[in-house]
Amino acid sequence: MKKLSILAACLAIFGCNQIDSTSVKSNKNAIWPVIQSQVIKDESIENKVKALLDTMTLEQKIAQMIQPEIRDISIEDMRKYGFGSYLNGGGAFPSGNKYSIPQEWVDYAQLMYEASIDDALDGSKIPTMWGTDAVHGHNNVIGATLFPHNIGLGAANNSALIKDIATATATEVMATGIDWVFAPTVAAVRDDRWGRTYEGYSEDPEIIKAYASAIVEGLQGKPGVDFMDDSHVISTVKHFIGDGGTNNGIDQGNNTADEQELFDIHAQGYVGGLTAGAQSVMASFNRWQGAKIHGSKYLINDVLKEKMGFDGFVVGDWNGHGQVRGCSNESCPAAINAGLDIFMAPTHTWKALYENTIKQVKEGDIPLSRIDDAVSRILRVKFRAGLFDKPSPVNRKYAGKTEYIGHEKHRKIAEKAVRESLVLLKNNGSTLPLSANQRILVVGDGADNIGKQSGGWSISWQGTNNTNDDFPGGTSIYDGIDVVVKKAGGSIVLSVDGKYEKKPDVVIAVYGEEPYAEGQGDVKTLAYNPLNTKELNMLQGFKQQGIPVVSVFISGRPMWVNPYLNASDAFVAAWLPGSEGKAVADVLFKRSPQNDFKGRLSFSWPATPDQIVNRHDKDYSPLFPYGYGLTYEDDIQVKQLSEHHTLVIDGQQAEALFDGKLVAPWILSLMDEMRQTPVKSSSVELGGLSYRTIDKIVQEDAFKLSNQGNTLAGLWFNNKDDGYGVSGDNRVVELTVRREALLPESVMLALNCDDIKQCQHAVALANKINALPVNTWGSVQYSLSCFNQLSASHSKLKSLGVISSSKMNLDISAIRMTIKEPASTECN
Ligand code: BGC
Ligand code: BGC
Repeated sequence: MKKLSILAACLAIFGCNQIDSTSVKSNKNAIWPVIQSQVIKDESIENKVKALLDTMTLEQKIAQMIQPEIRDISIEDMRKYGFGSYLNGGGAFPSGNKYSIPQEWVDYAQLMYEASIDDALDGSKIPTMWGTDAVHGHNNVIGATLFPHNIGLGAANNSALIKDIATATATEVMATGIDWVFAPTVAAVRDDRWGRTYEGYSEDPEIIKAYASAIVEGLQGKPGVDFMDDSHVISTVKHFIGDGGTNNGIDQGNNTADEQELFDIHAQGYVGGLTAGAQSVMASFNRWQGAKIHGSKYLINDVLKEKMGFDGFVVGDWNGHGQVRGCSNESCPAAINAGLDIFMAPTHTWKALYENTIKQVKEGDIPLSRIDDAVSRILRVKFRAGLFDKPSPVNRKYAGKTEYIGHEKHRKIAEKAVRESLVLLKNNGSTLPLSANQRILVVGDGADNIGKQSGGWSISWQGTNNTNDDFPGGTSIYDGIDVVVKKAGGSIVLSVDGKYEKKPDVVIAVYGEEPYAEGQGDVKTLAYNPLNTKELNMLQGFKQQGIPVVSVFISGRPMWVNPYLNASDAFVAAWLPGSEGKAVADVLFKRSPQNDFKGRLSFSWPATPDQIVNRHDKDYSPLFPYGYGLTYEDDIQVKQLSEHHTLVIDGQQAEALFDGKLVAPWILSLMDEMRQTPVKSSSVELGGLSYRTIDKIVQEDAFKLSNQGNTLAGLWFNNKDDGYGVSGDNRVVELTVRREALLPESVMLALNCDDIKQCQHAVALANKINALPVNTWGSVQYSLSCFNQLSASHSKLKSLGVISSSKMNLDISAIRMTIKEPASTECN
């Protein structure tokens, strides 16, 4: 009791940064069962591990424990150090080329592999392994089959289908020469405001547990049957533990569940996945009861390894060790001592981490026995995975076989998954199934938008900056409708904004959330689009004209959509269906008798914008309960719903051009006097000008703009819509920036309006920014009146640029339009 109140006080006052894992002791040994993995310890492998370990130097051992990222190491680094593994993060491709073809991936794998076993420099001959986030298909690769995100698969509730998806994913991954997949995510998502909600199958452990074993079996094969043969890859159950249960759904936040709940709710995916033989577990960014998991000896060593008996390895998450108390990206003995076996060490800091860890072992801060245990685990998995016996990447069964990427068979599996994931929330007056032989109007910006329907972790990490051409072989939701309607002799018009010439018989509206990943998807309210009623007005307009409306809602979580439900006769939660959008039409038109709605909510649907609600809650009162989902057999009318809400929304958010991420409808490009190139990935160059994402609070929530040339060039934000109204009020443009040195006078903020020639205005940034301390984030503001004609006329802001004609570096994390009273009038 006493301990609890200290804990509560600490939480209230300090946010608990100070609590160490050791202060959370448990005597409830009974909570954690021994897991009987289907992968049985093999004496001959254990002997090989021991024999190999005995030959290794300390340097070689530590290199096995460091996992750098492809954007920050070279083949020569691999040759020199002999890393045990490496990864490509979301949106990272060989040679930084988004359009790399499978052969280029394999060639890169081959070079890394050869370098790892080239004993010329580091002296070891242990094959490295490449890990990737194939979290809904091989999602970093152009042309891959993108399956529905996990939230949709949870609604399908079909373990056999999940296994097929995993097997297909493994094949596509192997076609690129990759050995290891960072999936499945087994988070039990308890607060849907979390930006990773869609990576979870459910809010409830039941489906998660069953799925975890199905997917692990699909990726790795079945122990005793086809385990880790040439058609399988290593899988990782992540993120251990409690990632889906942080307070307020804050990514990487604090999970305050008690230990029984931690097991009952958040550990079930590990029970399923480890039983099926998963060979690795990824530590989570979040805290449990105040302490970061990466530093929790209790959870990693005592619970996972000792109590549950896990004998594979634990890999960290993206510099997650750097968040442990007393640690940095460059140094973290505490994580290794807690039981972490591999540091995920993207960014250039891997080198210092490698050196510091060696030093810490020599100085006794990390016992050599711990290092030997970690390396033994890594080697054990490498032997089990056959890495010492497999041919080199180019010579493997699927290597470079382009035909497996986006293979027709895989797309068929994805189509089935799309059909089964759709949940019918409302179908008043049996609006669905639709007859195809009528006049159909398809509206909404999600209708013909494969990027939007695929969500985050799709080619790019955030899933943004893609066009339909970036998904060759894929189809949009509209594509499917088009085929069905034309075949039946109906007529179809696509009109994003809902304008039409001939009155349609029915409207299909496809709309929903823009893509996001991780913390960038955290939201404060579950209300869909609370500040922008353009789509709602459009739907209500159809309703008034007596045109039936079918909504197909794209989202990474259940959302409060009461006004949209009211404005729709039928409403389908489509989640994030992925690259095979055409399959949605199979169900909307019931193209065959089996094509009824099969999806059932694996997440409770909220009754208010701020309702946090889960199956088995006391006083459970969602709008639609867990398990809900109509079929064509049901005759249930959804009544008019309350549209009342008391929302407090951060108004600034809505007026940002960039706020940790690019905000629609703004698009980004680099421009110099002659050329322009769109910013479509995390690092883009144009002559001496470059843009590269950097981390401020979370990954990639800011960018570095640098100009190494002496010609006029800059980064431009362009408004895809009709522009942003900036007429005469007290608004200011606010930039959150960080400088490395004095900014030269030539750096300008330029705002253009309707007619670029007549209305081009710029102010110098140097004075105000140079007044900020160096290497520290701060904000500067410029009244819109500084850009005089802009505010005087009733203009619309079409573009905004940060430009310079001399060498400079500037980090930017936000550009917002905000109201300041009194408006700051200084322009320079
Ligand atoms: C995510 C992981 C992912 C890793 C590598 C992290 O930020 O949390 O899920 O596997 O990045 O991309
Ligand atoms: C990287 C992604 C990575 C993500 C992990 C980002 O900074 O660019 O590739 O997957 O962090 O959180």
